[in-house]
Amino acid sequence: MSTCSSGTCGSKKASGCGSADAAVAQQNTAIAASLDRIKNKILVMSGKGGVGKSTVSVNLALGLAQKGYKVGLMDVDLHGPDIVRMLGMPGRMDGELTKDGKMPPLQYNDTLKVISLESMMENRDDPIIWRGPLKNQAIRQFIADVNWGDLDYLVIDAPPGTGDEPMTVAHTIKDAKALVVTTPQNIALADVRKSINFCKHVSMKILGIVENMSGFICPHCDKTVDIFKTGGGEQLATEFSVPFLGRIPVDPRVVVAGDDGKPYLSSGTTSPAVQAFEAFLAKVEKELPVHAAAASIPMANPLAKAGSSCGCGGGPCNPNTCDC
Ligand SMILES: Nc1ncnc2c1ncn2[C@@H]1O[C@H](COP(=O)(O)OP(=O)(O)O)[C@@H](O)[C@H]1O
Ligand SMILES: [Mg+2]
Ligand SMILES: [Zn+2]
Repeated sequence: MSTCSSGTCGSKKASGCGSADAAVAQQNTAIAASLDRIKNKILVMSGKGGVGKSTVSVNLALGLAQKGYKVGLMDVDLHGPDIVRMLGMPGRMDGELTKDGKMPPLQYNDTLKVISLESMMENRDDPIIWRGPLKNQAIRQFIADVNWGDLDYLVIDAPPGTGDEPMTVAHTIKDAKALVVTTPQNIALADVRKSINFCKHVSMKILGIVENMSGFICPHCDKTVDIFKTGGGEQLATEFSVPFLGRIPVDPRVVVAGDDGKPYLSSGTTSPAVQAFEAFLAKVEKELPVHAAAASIPMANPLAKAGSSCGCGGGPCNPNTCDC
């Protein structure tokens, strides 16, 4: 009897394992095909819970989407998925499968696709009681079976720590880069070291560190109060020679936005926290440029002759196939 569910038991002759191997190989092919169409993959992680990973994930994904990039947001915090609530998306994923048998993700707007286990559940308040192999399989299916299409960025929101979910992402998405979120106090910074060492262990590159809840800007007098201290994230970035991506202050409106399902960056305000998010976004864009970004924003080709049959879309013109 074989209990191998991953095709890695090593006993290919054991009954049922050959077909399991074939299924895994088929899934690996589907995963590779999906990932091939995604230019940048960002795993948002931290050593601790409650430091703002989901808030950063949602606002990073939304901010990039608002700039015209094609973005996917994948919630792999399987036990505590928050993404769809933060985005105010109560709908269930029950769209028809696409021609190639893939699941359509939820669509927040034209440029932002979202997937979360929560939107597949009958009752959102039911707990997920899964161990490692099932979680591994769910994440693999999120990549293999979902119709992500062409994306400039895939933002992946992880649970705290260095358990099954980030491990599966590291093994499955070899070119994912870690975005480590921390708060400034020493106790949180000690956990960041663990995240950084985890990345070294699984050979995952680090996109950078962002320090969230870094200072509180008083809405009455605009003075900054460093409730949790400040600057520790930057020191750590220097110590580990990884980019420091910025500080985001505490702003009570971030909490209200998360609770109301109206993401902060969609609020249209220009508060210091919004400005900090914008600066952070710009750094991420700089660290992970999308070389063909122009292709994601359809633009008229000024050189095209009126009425020409240019089939090159917004990309560079191919003189062999078009008459512009
Ligand atoms: N910069 C911030 N200012 C104020 N509240 C914040 C900020 N970042 C996150 N929060 C709030 O802190 C809580 C935890 O954030 P969350 O993103 O869920 O953390 P995590 O995903 O790391 O567990 C949420 O209520 C969120 O709205
Ligand atoms: Mg979270
Ligand atoms: Zn004040």
